[in-house]
Amino acid sequence: MTTANQLRRAYIDFFKARDHVEIGSAPLVPENDPTVLFTTAGMHPLVPFLLGEKHPAGSRLVNCQKCIRTGDIDEVGDTTHLTFFEMLGNWSLGDYFKERAILYSFEFLTSVLEIPLARLWVSCFAGDEDAPRDQEAAAVWHSLGVPESRIVYLGKRHNWWGPAGETGPCGPDTEMFVELALPDCGPDCGLTCNCGKYVEIWNDVFMQYNKTAAGSFEPLVRKNVDTGMGLERVTAILQDRRSCYETELFANLFALIGELAGISNPIADRGARIVAEHMRAAAFLLCDGVRPGNVDQSYVLRRLIRRAIREGRKIGIHEMFTPALGEVVVADYHQAYPELREQQAVIRDELQREEDQFADSLERGMREFNKLIDKFPAHVVNKRISGRKAFFLYETYGFPVELTCELARERGFQVDMESFEEAYRKHQEKSRSGAEKKFKGGLADHSEAATCLHTATHLLHAALRQVLGDHVKQAGSNINAERLRFDFSHPEKVGREQLDQIEKLVNEAIEQDLPVECREMSVEEARNSQAIGLFGERYGERVKVFRIGDRSLEICGGPHVGRTGELGRFKIRKEESSSRGIRRIKAALQS
Ligand code: ALA
Repeated sequence: MTTANQLRRAYIDFFKARDHVEIGSAPLVPENDPTVLFTTAGMHPLVPFLLGEKHPAGSRLVNCQKCIRTGDIDEVGDTTHLTFFEMLGNWSLGDYFKERAILYSFEFLTSVLEIPLARLWVSCFAGDEDAPRDQEAAAVWHSLGVPESRIVYLGKRHNWWGPAGETGPCGPDTEMFVELALPDCGPDCGLTCNCGKYVEIWNDVFMQYNKTAAGSFEPLVRKNVDTGMGLERVTAILQDRRSCYETELFANLFALIGELAGISNPIADRGARIVAEHMRAAAFLLCDGVRPGNVDQSYVLRRLIRRAIREGRKIGIHEMFTPALGEVVVADYHQAYPELREQQAVIRDELQREEDQFADSLERGMREFNKLIDKFPAHVVNKRISGRKAFFLYETYGFPVELTCELARERGFQVDMESFEEAYRKHQEKSRSGAEKKFKGGLADHSEAATCLHTATHLLHAALRQVLGDHVKQAGSNINAERLRFDFSHPEKVGREQLDQIEKLVNEAIEQDLPVECREMSVEEARNSQAIGLFGERYGERVKVFRIGDRSLEICGGPHVGRTGELGRFKIRKEESSSRGIRRIKAALQS
């Protein structure tokens, strides 16, 4: 039997032995990409490098990346869908291409994992107006011993990957499947049906195009390989299990859920599966700094926790239980992700707080919901809950609207989402004008501090490049009310003298009280004007470029002050390693 831990290790070692450098998992919340909520694939943090930037660790990389995909969140509870999962991946940045990528995949699957050739199927891109049929990939598979009858050509819907957002690197791919010993589901049973007989385990993407905002596919400067293997699925296959829930990845979670709920076979219970899956995702999100709330990532986290709590109640857990499950996730995964151990207390406390907040109102809210439903005469055909009522449940009892929809569905009702959104919008407008009033009233405001730190980040970025060299590129940025945190590519520790110089340059710029000017322009113009911070193609067609006197010219979507004189005194607090080839600076502004 191969455990998930062994699989992770075997994969990384295999590629390391073939000159790949292991890079750590990036956080679940992308640091430089406002267009998506979560990291959805191993390639996501590598977009700038796939577009042509030089990666400090070289041209062959391997890792295991934490990912969240929320598209199928409502399907979670069946035996296959997950929101959180781990993706094993290897990359060639302009190094090897199709032949070697396929050879590596083949070798790893058949020699290391010992998956019998007779169970292996592959699919290749069938070709269309954007790119030709991928006969090259098929020929490589064939030369390795995969019979033509098990090489299938499919169109863009199946065999084209990316871009991750609207624009960016993408290309045709070749996917690998394992055939399970199950009967055909019907006469058309094949790779593309969802009956479970064919499980897709790995995807080799040949990233050679950049999809532009105009929708065209431009050839990339360099051809890259991006691959992704779902760790949970492959673990299940290696252990001859029908579902990843039956592997050790979930065993301890189910043991505790079963004990708390008093059920003997929790894996077979849909509710228990939802609890296990959502709690695993929630613990990892908390670990990466997300907190339950009402917008964006925070809202997804809240939904996950609240749905888990409700399912927990349904299967018979009546005491506080999410913190204990959070602890199980930390214990199970901290070896692979040491950050879980560091955040253990935060994970526990946040879960406790959220469960406390929600548990009482859940009961009262459920009573309210039931009253609402019972009011409908049995003979009404079109059973709809108005948006106003759904909003009332959200505002008063903290029911995420998706939870109301789910409850409604169970009882044969629908929620009028249009009128819900209307009610929600009105509420937002009201609270926004409230916040603005507060701000005008002169209360210390978080966003003011953050705005100053945004501008300071640009000055820091420029000073780093001036002192250390043009190889310095932003690799991450995070700002809160107290400090900025800036990650950048640089091969070694930045010495005290250099830090002093950098600090001095920033403070000089502040003393000069330089104007901060913003201009909107096309990506093309920005590029021509030598602006830095080009995570370009991800921003859409037009970008904002901020000029700070003659010091800095940088693309940014963030808020900025009008003049640098507003910033106060800039102080570097810490310089440390963030990951291989990436340094991290924490700095603050003192008034
Ligand atoms: N980025 C590719 C995927 O997610 C490998 O399937």
